[in-house]
Amino acid sequence: DKGGWDSFMAKEITENPEAVSNTLMGRIQDGAVTLSSLDVLGENYFREIDRITVIACGTAFYSGQTAAYAIERWAGIPVTLELAHEFRYRTPFITDRTLVISLSQSGETMDTLMAVRYAREHGAKTLSICNTQGASIPRESDAVVYTHAGPEVAVASTKAFTAQITALYLFGLYLAQERSTLSSDEIADLLDEFQTIPEKMRAVLEEHDRIKELAHWMADARSVLYLGRSTGFPIALEGALKLKEIAYIHAEGFAAGELKHGPIALIEPGQPVFVIVPSPRHDDSLHPKIVSNIQEIRARGARVLAVIEGGDATVLPYVDEAFACPPTSEFFEPLLRVIPLQIFALELSTAKGLDVDQPRNLAKSVTVE
Ligand code: M6R
Repeated sequence: DKGGWDSFMAKEITENPEAVSNTLMGRIQDGAVTLSSLDVLGENYFREIDRITVIACGTAFYSGQTAAYAIERWAGIPVTLELAHEFRYRTPFITDRTLVISLSQSGETMDTLMAVRYAREHGAKTLSICNTQGASIPRESDAVVYTHAGPEVAVASTKAFTAQITALYLFGLYLAQERSTLSSDEIADLLDEFQTIPEKMRAVLEEHDRIKELAHWMADARSVLYLGRSTGFPIALEGALKLKEIAYIHAEGFAAGELKHGPIALIEPGQPVFVIVPSPRHDDSLHPKIVSNIQEIRARGARVLAVIEGGDATVLPYVDEAFACPPTSEFFEPLLRVIPLQIFALELSTAKGLDVDQPRNLAKSVTVE
């Protein structure tokens, strides 16, 4: 049931706020995270591990890449990411102190399932973050944290992505509790901000028509580039994947710092570029760096559409169009910045008269290798 929407994808994008709030539900108590499904791993387990490897494919991979920044910062543990189909065909470094986390909406992706089996056979414990109760991957893992995004029907994953980041952030904060790497006040503050995200997502969703206008501005594009830094980088990759997948437009995401190492050669007059811009309030130097990246591509004729924080006037003189998201703290930004990119792909696909929910050549769950 599309609930009055033209496509499942359109409906599922509007369900992002519930995907986050339902995944948080019952897991925050008195300013701390409770994840009782992790108890099976043993009392001291999370103090003993020395590395986390995340395995996934497609959009799930990008949710892992997004959350890795926060987990490393909060829990002081190295997090490496690996595409499941690459992981299993080399000799990955795994010991009994490695936690292997698999991410899968369907829980049936064959490459991810085989990678989980490989990890278990080599002595690692496996944690599944999955949206489908009782699917093969959670059944074959040592522990599971379910995302509660509800059924996702459209081939293009949207609300499952934000639910996965939510579950990974809860896990990262749980790990910080267990390893005493953050104070209880720091954790409580982060959880307070986390709980405002569904409301802030609703504010972004209310601007759907504005994003639709911006999409039409790029309707004749043959190629669209996406740039970001830090968590904006995997968001750029995810935005590009959505556009390829449902609008059949060539799209590529880059870490903005890579521009000078090659991709800037692609910029010619009229080239549309999305830039994911972090808040200028954050205590890091990312904002001025990205502004200078924008100046570099603008000088070569790029048409820049920036996804910014509301009120960030510093960037406006340098861009052609801007879409503003509500302010939030550093690690929660990607949960807001991704939504306009999802809507943008939806609207370009619709404008081209394509089947939004069933793109050519693709299946919702990839159960073959
Ligand atoms: O069910 P899974 O999360 O394991 O699926 C992984 C990918 O196949 C999936 O995210 C795919 O990339 C989506 N169609 C992207 O929108």
